Amino acid sequence: MIEEMLFQILTLFPEMFNGPLESSIMKRAQEKKIIELRYVNYREFTTDKHHCVDDTPYGGGSGMVLKPEPIFRCLNAVKKDTPPGRVVLLTPQGKVFKQKMARELAKEQHLILICGHYEGFDERIRTYVDLELSIGDYVLTGGELAAMVVADAVTRLLPGVLGASDSAEYDSFTENLLDYPQYTRPVEFEGQRVPDILLSGHHKMIEEWRREQAILRTAERRPDLLKEEQLSEEELAFLCRKRNLTEEL
Ligand SMILES: C[S@@+](CC[C@H](N)C(=O)[O-])C[C@H]1O[C@@H](n2cnc3c(N)ncnc32)[C@H](O)[C@@H]1O
Repeated sequence: MIEEMLFQILTLFPEMFNGPLESSIMKRAQEKKIIELRYVNYREFTTDKHHCVDDTPYGGGSGMVLKPEPIFRCLNAVKKDTPPGRVVLLTPQGKVFKQKMARELAKEQHLILICGHYEGFDERIRTYVDLELSIGDYVLTGGELAAMVVADAVTRLLPGVLGASDSAEYDSFTENLLDYPQYTRPVEFEGQRVPDILLSGHHKMIEEWRREQAILRTAERRPDLLKEEQLSEEELAFLCRKRNLTEEL
């Protein structure tokens, strides 16, 4: 029996999660008790009359900084009576979140995701986190969208979340390759035909074609990824042939 994975999302805006994480596959994952999502508002862990979570920065400058105490107290509270897990701070200064990290986090039983806002966190909160993650080199208004991205990417890797028909096995980045081109009915659309090989019913040849196409697509769009992939001699030869052909055109 697989244990339910617990996500505790520490946020000032729990209502933001209602749509994206309460629909489709994420909704079903909760109904099937593969994951449990809990939203905890760290404003509730303030002790002052105005429930203040932020303050002006020491040294001056614009914007407001999240105070350490409410998040610290909230963290201690959510760790009580829950399985051991990893505390993740969402920040543009973190390690860039990739599929490999999603696979690593999918092995955890419990993830605590801390969403910042305003100008960011008081530096001292970093002492209480295990991992800092960024979802890309851009700055969002808050960590909520980033937490949704992480929760979604991790959840779809958990056993039982995806049906066999939309398995994660061949997704982009599963190896260091982008996904191969996909087609569905009709066979011909606006003069564009589905490649004959996909209609042949020859499974081995289809598999080879898909791998070649994935290699080609990755070489064209993400050569940085291909450097990490172990290609066979035949695959390297195929790539060189294709590249020469493209250069000749
Ligand atoms: C406006 S941002 C603060 C940016 C901060 N001043 C900096 O430059 O690092 C507010 C919050 O949004 C979240 N955030 C913004 N961009 C993000 C990204 N690329 N990945 C993850 N979280 C992000 C973080 O939680 C951050 O504390």
